[in-house]
Amino acid sequence: MKNFVNAKALVDYAKAGKYAVAHFNINNLEWTKSLLEVAQETKSGIILGASEGAIKYMGGYNVVANMVKSLMADLKITVPIVLHLDHGQSYQACQSALEAGFTSVMFDGSHLSFPENLETTKKVIALAKKYHASVEAEAGSVGGEEDGVVGLGEVADPQECQSLAKLGIDILAAGINNVHGRYPDGWKGLNFDVLKQIAEASNKPLVLHGGSGIPKEQVAKAISLGIAKVNVNTELQEAFAGAIRNYIINNKDQENKGYDPRKLMKDATLAIKTKAIELLKEFGSYGKS
Ligand code: 13P
Repeated sequence: MKNFVNAKALVDYAKAGKYAVAHFNINNLEWTKSLLEVAQETKSGIILGASEGAIKYMGGYNVVANMVKSLMADLKITVPIVLHLDHGQSYQACQSALEAGFTSVMFDGSHLSFPENLETTKKVIALAKKYHASVEAEAGSVGGEEDGVVGLGEVADPQECQSLAKLGIDILAAGINNVHGRYPDGWKGLNFDVLKQIAEASNKPLVLHGGSGIPKEQVAKAISLGIAKVNVNTELQEAFAGAIRNYIINNKDQENKGYDPRKLMKDATLAIKTKAIELLKEFGSYGKS
């Protein structure tokens, strides 16, 4: 399938065109199918991200890779789709993803000392090359918690970003006071001074993790300064959960065969699609493929 691709061309184009590719986390079949349909209907290349926790939940690396590939074939998806390991915590996790057919991996070494992060990132790059897969590395860390991955929210050091960039990574995630999940009250906003320094020092397409709930003006400014990939999970989860909540509160599960999971999740999958389309427009990648 020639449109099942790594992330390099998508993020390079985005960086040059000053827009950002959407990375949407997937949690199950409904999520994946909805997002592939949105990508095709809007002619937008997207990155489907799967965390180690979500992969375990869905059954394993092979299930996820084969589900994405099979849906792409059956739904006749022709726009570029990337399947990306989100926050891979070890070399082994990246290896399992690549062996199963993921086209892109993130090695998140933010829990290690910087020399260890650098060393393992280097090994992951060498391995990914064999699979023509792209590699995202992380400097500093994203605050909050994402599927069991807890970060302290350290703002990245531009020198460390440069060292990671020099290894030959394709994309760089750098902590700029961004947080996974809901932003806490009194959050001070993204650190644009550091973002500028990182963009200059690394000269790589940059990733904004914790893309849910950041004010639109800040997202736009971050994209203008070099963010070429925005990761979103929580906002789609909230949209999905909100629709299920309404369905149950309105006793729809009690009417006729409203308990049928296909009925139960119908509004929820539509809610994912509506939110994803809104985000593609916000990030500027709507219709770019
Ligand atoms: P949110 O859940 O805050 O949208 O973050 C998603 C993310 O960064 C995945 O890597």
